[in-house]
Amino acid sequence: MTSTTLFSQARVLIVTGKGGTGKTTVSGVMANLAADEGLRAMVFQIGAPGARYEPGTAQLARLFGSDEVLGYEASVLKSNPNGGTVNARAVTPDTALVEYLHLHGMRRLSRRLVSSGALDVVATAVPGMPDILVLGKLKQMERAAAAGLPNAPDVVVLDAPATGHAVRFLQSPRGLLDATAGGPVRAQAQEVVEMLSDPQRCQVVLVTTPEETPVSETVETAHLLEERVGVRLLAVVVNGRLPVLALPPEPDAGQLGLMARELGVDLTPVELEAMAAAGRLRLERQEVQAVQVARLGRELALPQLELPFCFNADLRPPQLATLTDAMSAAAGRLAPAGAP
Ligand SMILES: Nc1ncnc2c1ncn2[C@@H]1O[C@H](COP(=O)(O)OP(=O)(O)OP(=O)(O)O)[C@@H](O)[C@H]1O
Ligand SMILES: [Mg+2]
Repeated sequence: MTSTTLFSQARVLIVTGKGGTGKTTVSGVMANLAADEGLRAMVFQIGAPGARYEPGTAQLARLFGSDEVLGYEASVLKSNPNGGTVNARAVTPDTALVEYLHLHGMRRLSRRLVSSGALDVVATAVPGMPDILVLGKLKQMERAAAAGLPNAPDVVVLDAPATGHAVRFLQSPRGLLDATAGGPVRAQAQEVVEMLSDPQRCQVVLVTTPEETPVSETVETAHLLEERVGVRLLAVVVNGRLPVLALPPEPDAGQLGLMARELGVDLTPVELEAMAAAGRLRLERQEVQAVQVARLGRELALPQLELPFCFNADLRPPQLATLTDAMSAAAGRLAPAGAP
């Protein structure tokens, strides 16, 4: 799998993983890699009904050096000379409902819902309804992409809810199919189920950090997504892998003192002791990560794409570039170019 085949598998990539493992970051990295390859990528984020601010949208915009607040209309986060672009939008169930009503000739109703303040209530009244509204919008973008419409993206990356919610979120259309006898909601649910179960249209990328709990949750979610949602899994991104440092097996202050002096650096005993402790901790972390990556490989038969840990408080364009290069290299290593 080269990075190009990463995007030629399906038009929609659903990125999910345990909370805080890097879903938003990985969504941005994948979109950026697609844009580097000349594709038009759209990152699709999900907002809570009526939400005006979502921390995830700020996180994504910052990655591209923007302070823009993402909303329903697409924002351009990047535009490359090769024609590749990254756009992003944050879709909430209520805004998706307004657009649905507009497209289906019910403008007056949508105006009344907005002016009476009942929009949020309607968009969230039925269990599963918010999910189907957002997934319906995603499906509409996928259809536009498939039809090659002029402003349609080539690749849509869904920054999906965390795994705890993702299975329920992606199961909603099936639930509504069972619960409704007919009408537009059933038709919408049917079409979303068709998209989710067609691997040429939609596949899942799981994100995990190389630690015990996220790895366990990833394995469990992978099975649930396949069995209950019937969606194809493409790969698992192992995010935040520490670069392996060549440290002595048991760093101590004496050893480090000698190494420092050879380099012409004079350190106090307190500094040397602190460095030795940091070295031991780093070795321990590296070992834990290696064990968990190996376990993930045994328990989940999916290609692994590794991204390094960036030692920055905030991820900005330089870190985005580093992570995009790593994603490209990892995808390229999965199979030599030209291999099936
Ligand atoms: N490879 C990395 N190196 C260093 N920090 C990272 C890396 N990936 C993500 N982070 C940091 O970890 C935090 C969580 O990342 P992110 O917001 O992408 O996760 P998330 O899974 O989308 O979280 P949530 O579940 O809250 O939506 C952020 O502060 C981000 O800057
Ligand atoms: Mg997020």
